[in-house]
Amino acid sequence: RPLALWGGRFAGGPSQALAALSVSTQFDWRLARYDIAGSKAHARVLHHAGLLDAQQFAAMEDALDRLLTDVTSGAFVPSPEDEDVHTALERGLIERAGADLGGRIRAGRSRNDQIITLLRMYLRDEARALAADVLDLARALVSRADEVGDAVIAGRTHMQHAQPVLLAHHLLAHTWPLLRDVDRLRDLDRRLDSSPYGSGALAGSTLGLDPQEVAHDLGFSDSVSNSIDGTAARDVVAEFAFVAAQIGVDLSRMCEEVIIWNTREFGYITLDDSYSTGSSIMPQKKNPDIAELARGKAGRMIGDLTGLMASLKGLPLAYARDLQEDKEPVFDQIDQLHLLLPAVTGMMDTAVFNLDRMAQMAPQGFSLATDIAEWLVRNGVPFRHAHELSGACVRECEQQGKELADLTDQELAAIDPLLTPKVREVMTVQGSVSARTGRGGTAPVRVREQLDEARGQISKL
Ligand code: ARG
Repeated sequence: RPLALWGGRFAGGPSQALAALSVSTQFDWRLARYDIAGSKAHARVLHHAGLLDAQQFAAMEDALDRLLTDVTSGAFVPSPEDEDVHTALERGLIERAGADLGGRIRAGRSRNDQIITLLRMYLRDEARALAADVLDLARALVSRADEVGDAVIAGRTHMQHAQPVLLAHHLLAHTWPLLRDVDRLRDLDRRLDSSPYGSGALAGSTLGLDPQEVAHDLGFSDSVSNSIDGTAARDVVAEFAFVAAQIGVDLSRMCEEVIIWNTREFGYITLDDSYSTGSSIMPQKKNPDIAELARGKAGRMIGDLTGLMASLKGLPLAYARDLQEDKEPVFDQIDQLHLLLPAVTGMMDTAVFNLDRMAQMAPQGFSLATDIAEWLVRNGVPFRHAHELSGACVRECEQQGKELADLTDQELAAIDPLLTPKVREVMTVQGSVSARTGRGGTAPVRVREQLDEARGQISKL
């Protein structure tokens, strides 16, 4: 019989089908070093409770250190008989410390309190690692925004030309959501910062072990207040999954624009060869695969979140094996984001913005019509009427097949005498963007402030 963590009350071993269904080492092995850290902290409280003497405690620590070395080097790996990371590591401990000493480690703990403690430790580390990757992208966007200065682009709503904006303003509009994601990752750490270790299977332990000592040993500020909640709740895991999915969504929104900007019709952006792919049949092709993978993977990461929440929704207290399904979704999100973020950062870092093309398109599609209406308002015309008059200018242009700036003084006056030649001062892209001077607006002076604000946030995150 393989060295299972249970079996005393069973007449035979598990069926092949059960063993195949039950095994989780193929994904939970990434938690091995956290499990060993947990065992070291647990050995210490066993010692303090008088359940390991000084010599046993020292031998246990030594065996766990050797086990960690072997896990790190790859000399120790799970065997096909090991049900999960805990089972494998107990076998590894017994191989190193002997059955008598190794067999003492499990007193007063359960895989139920172990697994969620390890997962919390892992998610805390990953939240920091992902935040660093997201900040790299945010920094790249801020530096591109800085570099393009006062360059303009057609701002859109409903994908239609709406009002001209600074390209820097647009790039920063993709930066702020990323900074909020980093803030979410930091904030999440406060809720991940309590240790369920010592909750046992669900009710705590009879052995006088101190959960707070274990918690502090493992880098948590405290242990959980309720052992049932500690072993059964996964809201913090779901919260992590939401933030990961949201990062995916934020990357996807930006990448969708990269895909559109990269078309021949737009011609706004040229991707660097090293961040583009080719076609196996069409020799001329240069494809934005990074952006497309970002868009595709966002869907997958949303699926990870919804799958996890669906697994949680019907679970009674306390632990049930359904909870083993909490890990693969978040592990998948983490793996995808670690692949995606550096690629997207490189793509954005090296893309060439075709500023002339953007500038040429910015005033087209009557994007200065609002400026005409607001100029009339500044001259005392009620907005309702001003909107009508500006709309009449657009109608006239459409009939003649020209742009607003091409209307002659006579044509303007014929629409309404209120439209004096002075209106021309707002009928340029520069005039339009410079006039939007409220906080958060697209005036170059405001966008420069915004750049400083974003840099300040990045340095604080
Ligand atoms: N592998 C399980 C999980 O990932 C932990 C083991 C708990 N198993 C049990 N039979 N109580 O959640």
